[in-house]
Amino acid sequence: PPAPPPPQAYGISSCLLSNGVSNFSLPSSPSYTPLLDSSIRNLRFELPGVGKPAAVILPASKRDLRRAVLCARSSSLAIRVRSGGHSYEGLSYTTENHVPFVVIDLARLNHVRVDPAAATVWAESGATLGEVYRVVGLSSRNLALSAGSCATLGMGGHVAGGGFGLLSRKHGLAADNVLDAILIDPSGDTLTRDTMDDDVFWAIRGGGGGSWGVVYAWKLRLVPVPDNITVFSVGRTGPAELIAGLMHRWQYVAPSLPDEFYLSTFVPTGSSNGNLSMSFTGQVVGPKHLAMSVLDQTFPELGLAESELSEVSWVESAANFAGVSSVADLTNRQPGVGEYAKRKSDYVQAPISMQGAIEILRYMSTGPQGSIQLDPYGGAMARMGSAATPFPHRAGYLYSIQYAVSWNASDLDRAEEYIGWLRSFYGFMSSYVSKSPRAAYVNYLDLDLGTNDWANATGGTSGSKSVARAASWGERYFFTNFDRLVRAKSKVDPENVFNNAQSIPPLRYDD
Ligand code: FDA
Repeated sequence: PPAPPPPQAYGISSCLLSNGVSNFSLPSSPSYTPLLDSSIRNLRFELPGVGKPAAVILPASKRDLRRAVLCARSSSLAIRVRSGGHSYEGLSYTTENHVPFVVIDLARLNHVRVDPAAATVWAESGATLGEVYRVVGLSSRNLALSAGSCATLGMGGHVAGGGFGLLSRKHGLAADNVLDAILIDPSGDTLTRDTMDDDVFWAIRGGGGGSWGVVYAWKLRLVPVPDNITVFSVGRTGPAELIAGLMHRWQYVAPSLPDEFYLSTFVPTGSSNGNLSMSFTGQVVGPKHLAMSVLDQTFPELGLAESELSEVSWVESAANFAGVSSVADLTNRQPGVGEYAKRKSDYVQAPISMQGAIEILRYMSTGPQGSIQLDPYGGAMARMGSAATPFPHRAGYLYSIQYAVSWNASDLDRAEEYIGWLRSFYGFMSSYVSKSPRAAYVNYLDLDLGTNDWANATGGTSGSKSVARAASWGERYFFTNFDRLVRAKSKVDPENVFNNAQSIPPLRYDD
């Protein structure tokens, strides 16, 4: 059914104008829909039945941002903060139960400043990874940022949920490299590492976006890289046994390679003429000959040829894996052709048997358009303590699995069928993956794991219903770190101003 129209926005509009904030768009304005849709990555959340905000505010400064938060509060509108708009469940620009809301979109807060001598970067949260990568690359050929691979991800949401990428086996997640942050709290106050509670500074580095306030900017450590690194992307096609054999062997190789190596694999659903295919993406912080000699020895089954490898600078590698044609294009904020998609995640702690790999591929060969991506952990990922940041999937986690199905506009009436297939595949996978809890990655947000029920949590009195409810997915994303996240939330946002369908609830917030 179509969503009710957005509420009248006089309250928010006059509040913003009287506080000197003029960069915002109301539903009556021609700029509203293009602006709202500008960074919607998952088109499921652009459909007419999805509730729209009373305003989209584009702060142009930290001052505007603080005032936007305060005006939203004084107009009794819920707040959704958007940096890159890549939330898998659209949580940065939708609300549950048609609760009236505003979107505070940080796209104009995208300044990046590198200090090459100190090897640090300050990035406003609305900067995309591509924008940061480009500035870092221009500042020095020997500095890099450890973060994800897609250039249009926003720093705000990505770092808040961890941020795994091609350098993470050597240098950890983006969140592991955060040195400082500027947080606008629910009262509009500006907090930094020195003025923030320790639990809160811990929570914002991996506890997921949308729960703590608005991170206006992050300061991150940059990591050293040589002039050139080695990259490759290779495909392999063949009968199920061959592909299962490669997948099976990959599990023993990729998580235990030297830290300099990243080797992920991607397997699409379906088959062609009885053959299956898979691809491998590799980045080695070192020269070609090192990559060749190590992979020849550890993974001869891959049959890598030297001609499949290239040596490039780190920033060229970032552009390559982001799928853009040049370093200059890293700053293109347009997400390209959007897609209708559903994704889920898992972790594997013990290698899946060869028979298991065959059965998984058999299941996948019957699926709609989709894929699994396996990302190797180990290295620095495993050396970091599981409570050092909220992200707990460290020693003992061999790799993550990301499941995806996607479809296009001509198939909208089959969306439920495709999502249903993904859910049954996920059910089928349960015996192969981590258990008690079955772990998941908060940046691969999945509302199937459960949602908050704010409509029935009146707030203010003591109780723990919301916390018990949120533990059912919170422990899958964070294990026992969930408890510390609840403590941090209770300190920084006891009234639950910053909430969403899977945000961390404060204590004492139940009816
Ligand atoms: P978006 O703006 O949608 O925000 C996500 C969440 O954070 C929302 O709840 C939002 O309210 C909140 N938020 C946003 N800005 C905030 C701020 N400044 N302060 C506080 N809260 C804020 N992950 C990964 O680890 N490695 C990878 O390589 C990839 N690759 C990838 C590719 C593609 C195409 C997609 C769609 C996603 C990924 N991801 C990923 C997952 C990605 O890290 C995750 O979706 C991030 O939350 C996206 O951050 P955005 O700012 O873009 O999202």
